[in-house]
Amino acid sequence: MTLEIRPARADEIDATVDVLRATGLGANVGRLLRFPIDSPTGDVLVAVLDGVVVGGAAVAGFGATGWIGALGVASRARRRGIGTALTEGCVARLHELGAKTVLLFATTAGRPVYSRVGFQTDGIVHAWRDVAPPRGRSGSDGVRALEPRDHPRVLALDQEATGEDRGSVFSAMGGAVPGLVVERAGRVAGSAVRSPWGLGPSVVATDREAGVALLSVLRRVPGAPLTVSLPDGNADAVRALRAWGFQSINQATRMRLGPEPRFVPTRVFGMFNLFWG
Ligand SMILES: CC(C)(COP(=O)(O)OP(=O)(O)OC[C@H]1O[C@@H](n2cnc3c(N)ncnc32)[C@H](O)[C@@H]1OP(=O)(O)O)[C@@H](O)C(=O)NCCC(=O)NCCS
Repeated sequence: MTLEIRPARADEIDATVDVLRATGLGANVGRLLRFPIDSPTGDVLVAVLDGVVVGGAAVAGFGATGWIGALGVASRARRRGIGTALTEGCVARLHELGAKTVLLFATTAGRPVYSRVGFQTDGIVHAWRDVAPPRGRSGSDGVRALEPRDHPRVLALDQEATGEDRGSVFSAMGGAVPGLVVERAGRVAGSAVRSPWGLGPSVVATDREAGVALLSVLRRVPGAPLTVSLPDGNADAVRALRAWGFQSINQATRMRLGPEPRFVPTRVFGMFNLFWG
């Protein structure tokens, strides 16, 4: 039996996506991998057992921090150390890219694997779905469309909330970042950004009022009901979601290897996805 853990070749991406989908990582996993594939600081790693792709994972490096996401091993190849080897390969790749802290969202199956590698738990996140969206326009004052002139402020708000420099995610969306901001006394106090890579919008705000105002407007956007993931540590936001009748559809454990970034859960009202937050 020969096992290789290495960057996926372009002609192995489809097989990797098939394996990851079959592990239960979601129908959207192919879309989620587009950012690490296209980003100069991202990568997809594969586990190849006797010449066959049996597992994969992706990394996204953001300078001092980096994320592991979409890690999975085909059921037939589990409990042989492949998940652990993939995790170690991802950590090594992120260290090469300059990360001091490696972050991830773990499923119940993944948690013991990451703990053994040295990751510690940093709180729980839940994904929520709006099962009773309201009709009609919202009366939320100060919420308007995000404009290119807002980009530096939106990035600064993101950094203040996550403690990370996720500029590469924002620049990968190019000039046209679809989203909203909430303005107070001429200053942007929160933003909601839609990305092509995930479940819901990334929503950050300086305080509860600004964050909840953005979520309130997002609920009324025509189309599929809002799905939003956020840390349980933002108790005010969770309370608002519950009061609106949102239902929990998923949960994961935020885990960290390395020094803690200045992550402020009370400023996070929505995450791009359960890969890089
Ligand atoms: C989580 C997951 C990636 C683990 O993959 P894996 O290849 O089975 O992981 P490992 O083999 O390294 O470790 C799993 C278990 O096998 C054990 N093991 C490792 N090598 C072994 C061996 N040679 N013989 C027997 N057991 C072994 C480990 O000790 C570990 O045991 P424990 O978790 O019960 O303590 C896999 O279960 C999976 O894809 N799950 C679905 C998707 C998912 O949840 N991914 C995580 C996203 S965060």
